[in-house]
Amino acid sequence: MNYQALLDEIYTEVQPLFGQGHVADYIPELAKIDGRKFGIALETVEGECFKIGDATERFSIQSISKVFNLALGIRIVGDQVWERVGVEPSGNPFNSLVQLEYEKGIPRNPFINAGALVITDILLDHLDHPNEEMLAFVEKLRCLDINYNEEVAQSEIQTGYTNLALANFMKAYQNINHGVEQVLDAYSHQCSIEMSCVGLAKSFLFLANGGIVPKTGERIITAIQAKRINAIMLTCGFYDEAGAFAYLVGLPGKSGVGGGIVAVIPKKLAIAVWSPELNERGNSIRGIRALELFATRTGMSVF
Ligand code: DON
Repeated sequence: MNYQALLDEIYTEVQPLFGQGHVADYIPELAKIDGRKFGIALETVEGECFKIGDATERFSIQSISKVFNLALGIRIVGDQVWERVGVEPSGNPFNSLVQLEYEKGIPRNPFINAGALVITDILLDHLDHPNEEMLAFVEKLRCLDINYNEEVAQSEIQTGYTNLALANFMKAYQNINHGVEQVLDAYSHQCSIEMSCVGLAKSFLFLANGGIVPKTGERIITAIQAKRINAIMLTCGFYDEAGAFAYLVGLPGKSGVGGGIVAVIPKKLAIAVWSPELNERGNSIRGIRALELFATRTGMSVF
C-alpha cells in the first residue's frame, strides 16, 4: 500500500470542503485558530510514518485527551473505573446535562464531558501532580512534541460553567469526590494539551498494538483493556455523531473541538487528521471526510 500517494490524493480531494463549517469559538482562545489548517499523519505498528500538510504543527487536542485520561485511569485502577461511569453511547452533545438526572449522576461513558470529569476525579486520588503526570504518560506513549497551552486552559476554566454544573451535579450524587474547581482545573489542562498529527498518531499506536507501545515494547494496559477502549471509541468517540462516523469510516476514533481526529486500525496503524472547521456536532468536517476516503480506498476498517 502506497500510503504517501494516498495521503497526497486525499489532501487534494478534501480541500474544496473548506468554508463549510466553523472553528470552535465557545472557548475564546480556540476562535483565533486559522480554519484553513489541514494535516494528516499516520504511523504503522512497524514504525513507518507518513504525513502531509500541517502534520507537524501542534494544535489543541481538546476531547482527544479523554482517551489518554481513560487509558491512564484504567492503567491505575483497572475495572474500578466502570463502577462510576458506563460504556453506552449517549446520543447527546458532548456537554449535555440531561441524562445525568435520570441516571443518578453516573455518566453514560468516559468520552462525554461528564464521564471525563469522573475519570479525572479518579486520577486525582492517585496522582500528586496530575498535570505533570499526564504529560509524562503521553510522553511514555512516544509523543515528545507536547505541551499545555495555559491560555487555552485558563480560557476554558473561566468559561466552563457547564462543566462546573456537570461536576457539581455529580458531586450531589457522590460521584465526584474532589473539589469541583480542582477537577475542572485538571480536566481543562488535559483539553488544552497541544500535539501535532504526528505526535497523536504515534501516541495512539499502543491501542492498535494490544496495549503495547510498538517502538519501546512497553505494556501500557492489557490487550483486553485496549480492545475495550477501542470499542468505546467506536461507539462513543463522536458523541451524537458516533453512528455516522462508524457508518462512514468504520474505525475506532476520537475527535476534539480543536479539529483533530485520531483513528485506530487494530494491528496495523494509527492515523491523525487536523482541520479546525467543525460541523454542528463539534466534529471536523474535512477530518471525517479524509478518514472516510482513507478507510474506503485502503479497504481497511474493523468491519
Ligand atoms: O469541555 C469542553 O468543552 C472542551 N474543552 C472539550 C470539548 C471537546 O473537544 C468536545 N469535542 N468534540
